[in-house]
Amino acid sequence: EDRVPLVNTGTSMPRLGFGVYQLYGQACQKAVLTALEAGYRHIDSAQLYRNEADVYTALNQVPGVKREDVFLTTKLGQSAGSFDKTYQSVLGSIERLGGKDGYVDLYLIHLPGVGRDTREELWKVLERVHKEGKAKAIGVSNFRPQHLEEMKEYAEIWPPHVNQIELHPWCQQQEIVQYCRDNGIAVCAYSPLSCGDNLEDATLAAVAKKHNKSPAQVVIRYALQKGWVPLPKSGNPDRIKHNADVFDFSLDDEDMKTLNGLDRGRAGQLFPANVK
Ligand code: A2P
Repeated sequence: EDRVPLVNTGTSMPRLGFGVYQLYGQACQKAVLTALEAGYRHIDSAQLYRNEADVYTALNQVPGVKREDVFLTTKLGQSAGSFDKTYQSVLGSIERLGGKDGYVDLYLIHLPGVGRDTREELWKVLERVHKEGKAKAIGVSNFRPQHLEEMKEYAEIWPPHVNQIELHPWCQQQEIVQYCRDNGIAVCAYSPLSCGDNLEDATLAAVAKKHNKSPAQVVIRYALQKGWVPLPKSGNPDRIKHNADVFDFSLDDEDMKTLNGLDRGRAGQLFPANVK
C-alpha cells in the first residue's frame, strides 16, 4: 500500500514525500523536477519557504505528470491580521502552488506558537477553503496533544487530517504520535534524515551494512515502516534519487527494535522552537 488514507476526506497521500525547505528559485525548480522524474508524487512546501510558485513551475515542466497525479502541501505561516486578510493570503498561496482556479491537496497551520485566538482564526480560514474545495485536506504542523485537544473548543472539522512534526530515530515524539494514531490523524515526518546530522551513527551503519543500503535509505525506510510519511529534503540530484530508492528492501523486527533504541527524546529534537 503506497498511500495513507486521510480520515473523512475520501483522499489519501503518497507514503513518500519530498521537502523543499530552503530551496529557492531555479534550485527549487530543478530539485522538484528531479524529484518528479525520480518518482516522488508528494511535495511539501510552505508560505514561509517562499517557493510555492517554483514548485508549480516545475510541476508543469514534466511531460506525462499531471497536476492530479501529484499531492501538493503548503502551510499557513501566520495571520495576516484578520480573518479576511488571512483568507486572502491563503487564496494567494493556493494560486501560487496550484495555479489559477486550482487547489492544494493539503493545507496546514505551520506552527502553534501564536496563541489560542490566532490558532482559531487560522483554523477557521482553513475550514473555509476546505469547504470550498480549494484544499482537499487540512491539518496542522508542530502541534502537541494540548493544541489538538484545544482545537475541539473551536473546530467544526476535527480531527485535523494531518499533523506534521519532526520525526527520525533520534526524535520519535512517541506521545504525539500515539495521540495522532488514537484519533485518526495521519502523521508526516519532517527532517526524517535528522538534517544529515546523525547519519554517521555506528548503530545505524551496522543496520545499513546488513541490507547493503545507505544510512539515509535506512532511516527513510524506518520512517515508512513506522507509518510516518517521511518528507526527506535534498537539493542534490543524486541524493534526491537515492532517497527514493527504498522500496526494494525491508527492515526486520530486530532492525526496527535496534533503531527504536536510538530515541533521545527531547534531546534529539533539532527544531526545539518548532520552526521548520
Ligand atoms: P543536500 O541538500 O546537500 O542533499 P532532512 O530531510 O532530514 O531535513 O535532511 C536534509 C539534509 O540532509 C540536507 O542538508 C541534505 O543535503 C542532506 N541529505 C539529503 N539526502 C542525503 C543523503 N542521502 N545522504 C546524506 N545527506 C543527505
